[in-house]
Amino acid sequence: MGRKIQAVKGTRDLLPPETAVWVAVERTARETFGAYGYSEIRTPILEDTELFVRSVGESTDIVGKEMYTFADRKGRSLTLRPESTASVARAFVQHGLHRAPLPLKVFYIGPHFRYERPQKGRYRQFFQIGAELLGDAGPQSDGELLLMLVRFLSVLGFEGLVVRLNTVGDEESREAYRKGLLEYLEPHREALSPDSRRRLETNPLRILDSKDPADHRVLEGAPQLSEFLSAESAAHFEAVCTMLDRHGVAYTVEPRLVRGLDYYTRTVFEIISEGLGAQDAIVGGGRYDGLIEELGGQALPGIGFAIGEDRLIEVLPEKFRSEAMMSSAVAVAAVPPVSAAEAVAVAEELRSENLPALAELADRSVRSALKRADRAGVQWMVLIGEQEQSTGMVTVRDLEQGTQETISRGDLANYLRRSR
Ligand code: HAM
Repeated sequence: MGRKIQAVKGTRDLLPPETAVWVAVERTARETFGAYGYSEIRTPILEDTELFVRSVGESTDIVGKEMYTFADRKGRSLTLRPESTASVARAFVQHGLHRAPLPLKVFYIGPHFRYERPQKGRYRQFFQIGAELLGDAGPQSDGELLLMLVRFLSVLGFEGLVVRLNTVGDEESREAYRKGLLEYLEPHREALSPDSRRRLETNPLRILDSKDPADHRVLEGAPQLSEFLSAESAAHFEAVCTMLDRHGVAYTVEPRLVRGLDYYTRTVFEIISEGLGAQDAIVGGGRYDGLIEELGGQALPGIGFAIGEDRLIEVLPEKFRSEAMMSSAVAVAAVPPVSAAEAVAVAEELRSENLPALAELADRSVRSALKRADRAGVQWMVLIGEQEQSTGMVTVRDLEQGTQETISRGDLANYLRRSR
């Protein structure tokens, strides 16, 4: 016997019936984003490593220690995408999409890869549902993108989720703040956690969202980014908040929210769910006004978000989940000695009439066919016995009510449609 091979650590098989939930979530995303004028984009899973180094940033955790990077057979350094904003910006530049009507609004759904320690809600292959709006700098774009995100989550049935919102300012405000923060932190160097001490050198802003209590104590007296904001950045943020107020979106301003990717400017946000423990962010996003230019394109702004689909599904409201898993309402079985091929034929007639149907494929007793149908959540069982077969009839049993009726085979589709 051969050795059993397991899925790679941190990756998962998504199996039926659970996959029905994923399909339903993705269908809802397509419909909701479509209503806002977003179209799907599909970029490659493999990218030039340099793309992420230049966009996400060298000093970030993602680039520093989480990327699946390898040399291909010609020695080129490739990386399995850890996120897709960089890929979308690259595609925008590569295809000269600044010439298309702007803003360009796109969404994507697919696997991403990060070499993290696997645990609940954290995988090495995980799925993101993301949206990006490129080519518009106004606060209405931030506002409408957030409205779309909140609408999507509420269609899924989420209640009580709160958007955590902040602004990290434009590049100048951020640079000024970096200096101010460093000046404040330097004298406290010894009181910081080892991680944060390292970040003093590489990425001091990231110290702000440290989870370490020692860092929290030091940060209590730290200057706030808002004191360093340019007038334009402050006005932009104000306008975004006003829009969210107008539409009744629940949000809190989190002055220390900075997010772990270097390309962010101005608006940043995330949504957390308590059901997930430490891995609690189900959505992250923000504006990236310098990214397209950084990747060799025009100086055009952008904003977007990505939802962690694995995490979203872990905390998905039960009602949406169970409706998504409802299986075929109709099953067809032949009663021996009538052949199971007859069940397939009747099921085919139903499918031709646009009615989904399950056919019992093996010659089984009615009892075991009924048991299987019941387990599959079937409501209507269509039975074809010898008598029915010879008279062109079928028997329809309502498994919920326990009633049954014999009707003409030609009327079956209409009968089921009427009874639903
Ligand atoms: P991010 O915050 O790195 O942002 O990831 C977005 C979401 O992906 C997270 O909130 C989380 O739900 C999910 N996620 C990340 N890593 C994992 C993992 N190892 N396992 C499961 N889920 C995970 C971005 O990726 C940005 N590209 C978002 C964005 C789009 N910003 C602007 N546009």
